[in-house]
Amino acid sequence: MARCKCSGRAMCLCLLPFLMMSHLLVYIVVTIFVAMSYTPEPKPLPLPLHFIAPGASSNSGALASHPLHAFWNLRLVEGALWNRLQHLKDRENNPILRGNTTGGRGSGTEITTVHENNNSLCKPDHRLVSQLPDFNTMPEQMKDFVLSMHCRNYTLLMNHPDLCNRQDIVPEAPMLLMAIKSQVGNFENRQAIRETWGRNGWVHEEAGGKRWKVRTIFLLGRQDITTGPHPDLEALLQLESSLHKDILQWDFRDTFFNLTLKDLLFWDWLTVHCPQAHFVFKGDDDVFVRTNALLDYLREHYAPRQRTTKKIKDDFLAGDVITNAWPSRQPTAKYYIPESFYKGVYPTYAGGGGVVYSAALAMRLRVVSQWVSLFPIDDVYMGMCLQRLGVSPSHHPGFLTFDLPEANREKPCAYRKVLLVHKRSPKEMLTLWRDLKSPPAEC
Ligand SMILES: *[C@@H]1O[C@H](CO)[C@@H](O)[C@H](O)[C@H]1NC(C)=O
Ligand SMILES: *[C@@H]1O[C@H](CO)[C@@H](O)[C@H](O)[C@H]1NC(C)=O
Ligand SMILES: *[C@@H]1O[C@H](CO)[C@@H](O)[C@H](O)[C@H]1NC(C)=O
Ligand SMILES: *[C@@H]1O[C@H](CO)[C@@H](O)[C@H](O)[C@H]1NC(C)=O
Repeated sequence: MARCKCSGRAMCLCLLPFLMMSHLLVYIVVTIFVAMSYTPEPKPLPLPLHFIAPGASSNSGALASHPLHAFWNLRLVEGALWNRLQHLKDRENNPILRGNTTGGRGSGTEITTVHENNNSLCKPDHRLVSQLPDFNTMPEQMKDFVLSMHCRNYTLLMNHPDLCNRQDIVPEAPMLLMAIKSQVGNFENRQAIRETWGRNGWVHEEAGGKRWKVRTIFLLGRQDITTGPHPDLEALLQLESSLHKDILQWDFRDTFFNLTLKDLLFWDWLTVHCPQAHFVFKGDDDVFVRTNALLDYLREHYAPRQRTTKKIKDDFLAGDVITNAWPSRQPTAKYYIPESFYKGVYPTYAGGGGVVYSAALAMRLRVVSQWVSLFPIDDVYMGMCLQRLGVSPSHHPGFLTFDLPEANREKPCAYRKVLLVHKRSPKEMLTLWRDLKSPPAEC
């Protein structure tokens, strides 16, 4: 390579064009950047970090954060089966989108060909199976659920239409209707409940002096005989039903994933046969309820004769409120929900051991449930319905879905603030009932 052998001045002359060129280049680049970064729109107003939705649940005290994604889910294709079915229902029933035109109903995805609302056909329906790539590896209860989730009307096999009105000298609407989910074989649980916290008739408040009419009814399906041979208990159940007149039985397999059906069918029954009731307690047959104390609570806050505003009563539901729960993804778990079936966090819901709500809310739940796809876990399903009604369940610390500390379980005083505990055997119910009848003076 030949080196420049010129003197200093010649070298200056040599470099001058390059220097000028580089200045020009810098000028051009800066101009382009300035042009690109210039935006004529004014800056948008800064949004506050949080907003408070009216009626936000009072127990957490936390504020709702901004949604992470667009409110309207556009990525439907990625959705799990339940989410997609629900998306379609939401869209079909959205009065703004739908207006009063009937044209574009349910256009788009192929999933609409499945008549989820077609109740006249309650046989297993395999059309949803093709939507679930992992169907064959799912647990049996999940498979069964998917095959029958299009059906929600089952025949009432045992009914007592006059439950709310009978044996009345003075006709009065029941203050509390206790609807207990039970199974055919649990004779002992039902009898223990009848003898203790689920007594039919007039029940005194614990602290206040009043007494209120209480009715108890048990919600049953058919014995699940698919898991193996079972002793036939139908005749015994018939006998029990004619003796106590408090059994409702529907024609579906009584399995864990079919429990949601009991809520739906009970709401139907309530609307027809006991719409005058003020409150509903819904619970399991292995819980203990301090009914007298529950009546105090209901009167203090929501008594029918006090001037409770309609709005408060329409929205009333209390229990052990659970927020931000995630579906169990452990395939062996009782509550396992595959990701292909449901995606996302569960809505706020009240734990299923027992909840109390107004009959007015039950009627609203019944209506909105028509627009909510069936979900296998009953208390979560109720949360989904509440969410669509815009109702926040209120947390009551007296609902102990997870029991007292072990050391306190035998002490009657420990139950003073309790409304419900889970779980108690029939024998424990009787003992506890006796002990709580005469609590020691020092509590
Ligand atoms: C929608 O409602 C308006 C007002 O009730 C009515 O005039 C119009 O004909 C309706 N359109 C359709 C497609 O039903
Ligand atoms: C329900 O299913 C039956 C039998 O497949 C069919 O005949 C009927 O048209 C369906 N009804 C609706 C509303 O889709
Ligand atoms: C479901 O409801 C439809 C119409 O209301 C009725 O024809 C059908 O028999 C019902 N199915 C069952 C299993 O009760
Ligand atoms: C629910 O009951 C129906 C009717 O008996 C049955 O076909 C279905 O398999 C049951 N579902 C589950 C999840 O057990």
